[in-house]
Amino acid sequence: MQIFNTVSEIKSVIREAKQNNKTVGFVPTMGALHEGHFSLAQRAKSENDIVVCSIFVNPTQFNNKEDLVNYPKTIDKDTSALKAIGCDYVFIPEVQEMYPSEALLSFSFGSLEAVLEGAHRPGHFNGVGIVVSKLFNIVQPHRAYFGQKDLQQFAIINRLVIDLSFQIELVCCPTVREDDGLAKSSRNMRLTKEERNIAPLVHKTLQATKTALRNTKDVETALEEGAKEISANSNFEVEYLQIIDRFTMQPLSGQYDSEIPTAICIAAHLGSVRLIDNIVLE
Ligand code: PAF
Repeated sequence: MQIFNTVSEIKSVIREAKQNNKTVGFVPTMGALHEGHFSLAQRAKSENDIVVCSIFVNPTQFNNKEDLVNYPKTIDKDTSALKAIGCDYVFIPEVQEMYPSEALLSFSFGSLEAVLEGAHRPGHFNGVGIVVSKLFNIVQPHRAYFGQKDLQQFAIINRLVIDLSFQIELVCCPTVREDDGLAKSSRNMRLTKEERNIAPLVHKTLQATKTALRNTKDVETALEEGAKEISANSNFEVEYLQIIDRFTMQPLSGQYDSEIPTAICIAAHLGSVRLIDNIVLE
């Protein structure tokens, strides 16, 4: 496995691989890797000749400075794990390499970002749009892999690929969970022991909402049931709990229509950590 810090180096090795007719799978990350990321890299490995991962804590997608400063950094551990998986190239640029000057271009994703994460983290998807476009232009992969845990991010990147005509196949991989249901996340390592013990309530809330939706076929009643589940523990501060159309991201209401591709999404603060999760209804 080779590690590169500059755009020109990573472009050059990928160009060579493509000249040799190799397919390229790309896993963009912000580091602090966990089993969720590893599953993306493993899937990329099984579907491509070459796997490229990037590790870059992208400042433009953090609307909260404190979150950026506290974002965990575990580069040595990350690169050892990627090597063990069989990743071929890792791109780890400095901020100056990705942003030689402040980006003036900005993205607006309309209704797709007016809800959920976009509504609560102003500017977040603009930053994601900028960095993912840059990374796609640098790596030019055949396939790129993202986790379902960031469902809205996936919908936004899908739109980016369509609107900017990137010839990249996007692959959405299932959320990897701890045994108790907590979605794996780089932010979990910031939970205290006590918080970690109660954190699975986020996933339990999604399950309770889903059960209520199946039983009552009523969106508002299901959301009330979900809210009751999580409010049983006063340590959580819920930012949103919504039942949405998982492609348009728009909130659903009234009678549940099982023909609509549906997902239930939640964001909640637990101490200083903001947890997000979702489940997709089959
Ligand atoms: O999902 C993430 O880790 C980030 O948002 C991404 C896609 C790597 C862009 O910085």
